[in-house]
Amino acid sequence: MILSSYNNQLALKLKGALENVIKTRNLAGLTVGTALFLTSIGANAQVVGSAHDLSPDTTGTDQVCAFCHTPHGAATGASAAGVPLWNKTLPNPATYTRYSTLNTATLDGAETEVGSVSLACLSCHDGTQARDVLINSPGSGMTGTALGVGAMTGTPVPVLGTDLTDDHPVSIQYAGGGYLISDPDGVGTNAGALGDPDFAAATKGLVNAQPNWWVDSPVGAGTQREKVDMLLYARSDPALDGGALQPFVECGSCHDPHNASTAGAGSVAFLRIQNSASQICTTCHTK
Ligand code: HEC
Ligand code: HEC
Ligand code: HEC
Ligand code: HEC
Repeated sequence: MILSSYNNQLALKLKGALENVIKTRNLAGLTVGTALFLTSIGANAQVVGSAHDLSPDTTGTDQVCAFCHTPHGAATGASAAGVPLWNKTLPNPATYTRYSTLNTATLDGAETEVGSVSLACLSCHDGTQARDVLINSPGSGMTGTALGVGAMTGTPVPVLGTDLTDDHPVSIQYAGGGYLISDPDGVGTNAGALGDPDFAAATKGLVNAQPNWWVDSPVGAGTQREKVDMLLYARSDPALDGGALQPFVECGSCHDPHNASTAGAGSVAFLRIQNSASQICTTCHTK
């Protein structure tokens, strides 16, 4: 009810603000009314009924999360790639032809191997494995029982294929790297210097003493990391700056796989914010 008087963008702003309140662990201060408000906004941005709700396509289950997550026995080791409780075996990073092999004259950032959340997205979106090839199918007792839904079809999207030279670079250093030059300990709170000045500076924060970076978008509050900001993913590569953690752009920088309607009616493609006036692009690129 409250929602109908707000547009979704504003609702999201409020949701972000409320999430921030929760992040500061002021839970005791939340009134029941606030909690209900959060729930009703949450109904706007969910997996059920979205393009990422695969259950209507399947024969064996009405579960939704299971196509991506499992509560136990998730992908481990190097293949876990830093994605939470992933229910699919992740592809071999060497499968992909990287954007950098295009050899554009202007590329400054170094790419590391395709990984992190990008590898998770590509475990469906490269079109090489069926969407129901799971580590733990619902109710199966840790077996990957097929659920009757095959590999993705369609070119060029939603299937990106394994040639990523026609896609926005991923697993690439943000802003041409350089974040560690003025932040040698890797855990300070300074944002660091940009290797490529044609980018907005990222914000750096510490979560459990680990560095985290994001680029603040025009949506939501300006002070804390929110789902409506362009998230950067902390990764390391032994060949880059001594293997220290630093910010990388991945599929999840622009997309939130859970939110079909993150930014309301004008929103497409699980984007973190509506892309009016290309504000997704200009959040990072100073253009
Ligand atoms: C299409 C794949 C997909 C589906 C379906 C999916 N998730 Fe996720 N989820 C992901 C990916 C990818 C990440 C990692 C995102 C990142 O690192 O930015 C993630 C992260 C998460 C996280 C941790 C980060 C956060 O946003 O809080 C939680 C919790 C989560 N998922 C819960 C769920 C639940 C519950 C469901 C079912 C209602 C679900 N997911 C359905 C892909 C999916
Ligand atoms: C999360 C931050 C981020 C967002 C959002 C973003 N980009 Fe980028 N983009 C980058 C980074 C980092 C590179 C690598 C550039 C470099 O290292 O020189 C890049 C590279 C590119 C390149 C290739 C540059 C080259 O030299 O080959 C183009 C073109 C581009 N982006 C366009 C866009 C467009 C269009 C959008 C909006 C749809 C967008 N970007 C959104 C961060 C971002
Ligand atoms: C379990 C398989 C699976 C995973 C993992 C997955 N997707 Fe999808 N995705 C799908 C399916 C199925 C569709 C719907 C395709 C269609 O409409 O034909 C889809 C559609 C999309 C769309 C288009 C949505 C629209 O409204 O048109 C985007 C964008 C997208 N996915 C991005 C991502 C990103 C980014 C990730 C990783 C964070 C991801 N997906 C992970 C299965 C997956
Ligand atoms: C720099 C931002 C950015 C990154 C990184 C990015 N995307 Fe996208 N993606 C977009 C935008 C913007 C669109 C919407 C284009 C439009 O308006 O049709 C899109 C569209 C899509 C679509 C097609 C949806 C449709 O129906 O047209 C899919 C699928 C998709 N992205 C998946 C991915 C996957 C998988 C990755 C990682 C390998 C990824 N994206 C990385 C910005 C990005």
